[in-house]
Amino acid sequence: MDQYRVFGNPIAQSRSPFIHLAFARATGQQLNYKSQFVEHGEFANAVNNLIAAKGKGANVTAPFKEEALAIADVLSDRAQLAGAVNTLSFENGKIYGDNTDGEGLVQDLLRHKIKLQGSNILLLGAGGAAKGVLLPLLDQNPTSITIANRTVSKADALINQFNDDRLYACGFEQTVDQEFELIINATSASLSGNLPAISSSIINSKVVCYDMVYSKQLTPFLSWAKEQGAITVIDGLGMLVGQAAVSFAIWRGVKPEVDPVIKQLKQALRES
Ligand code: ATR
Repeated sequence: MDQYRVFGNPIAQSRSPFIHLAFARATGQQLNYKSQFVEHGEFANAVNNLIAAKGKGANVTAPFKEEALAIADVLSDRAQLAGAVNTLSFENGKIYGDNTDGEGLVQDLLRHKIKLQGSNILLLGAGGAAKGVLLPLLDQNPTSITIANRTVSKADALINQFNDDRLYACGFEQTVDQEFELIINATSASLSGNLPAISSSIINSKVVCYDMVYSKQLTPFLSWAKEQGAITVIDGLGMLVGQAAVSFAIWRGVKPEVDPVIKQLKQALRES
């Protein structure tokens, strides 16, 4: 049976085996997908061992996405611009690297019927997560994407890499008087129970707030946004399933349905 893995450190928390095996069942594909803990410094060995065992592909999560970029022979544009790879495919003796995170986000936003074309988007954060979604977001033809970061110089550096006049960089405090239709939290603040220090003046009932992470309860950012009057708040569970669906389609040539798997994961979260 065709072999797939998700490599990470830590990895026990990964929902990817559940998601991909559910996709395989739903689409009638025969494959095996497991999570694998990889020691620091052992990533290349893990990839080579999988190839030797006739593996077909792998997902890659923290902290190996940059190493996955380095090991790939052929990179997609979006992986190159993201500076990170989350999907490896092994074909004809070559390693192909792609990044499906941004497409997973875009598809989840579109699934929620959020208008991206012509919109003004505020992206909070300028680290790997923000960088990974910029190209797919730009491809949806927004009017502007403003990248606000605690460390402004990092936001500046990020937009300079893209050379696109729809991109703006600033600090959190400079977003006060601006109007956005969509605010995406791509900082890792929620993971440590913190909030990016943005002003409540940019939140109103029409602004959609999206957090790229998810948890059993609303994330700190989404619960704060709700308190400030946001009506539509969305967490990153659909993005997780969306990026997996794009990887699955790359490997298997079949696009699985995401809704049933999102439903199952939500149920499992509620019961955890
Ligand atoms: P990731 O791969 O998750 O993006 P990263 O590359 O380390 O991780 O980037 C983390 C991002 O979250 C950065 O934009 C960081 O801001 P700084 O560049 O100023 O460090 C942001 N971040 C982390 N904790 C934060 C907090 N408590 N408040 C605001 N921003 C935070």
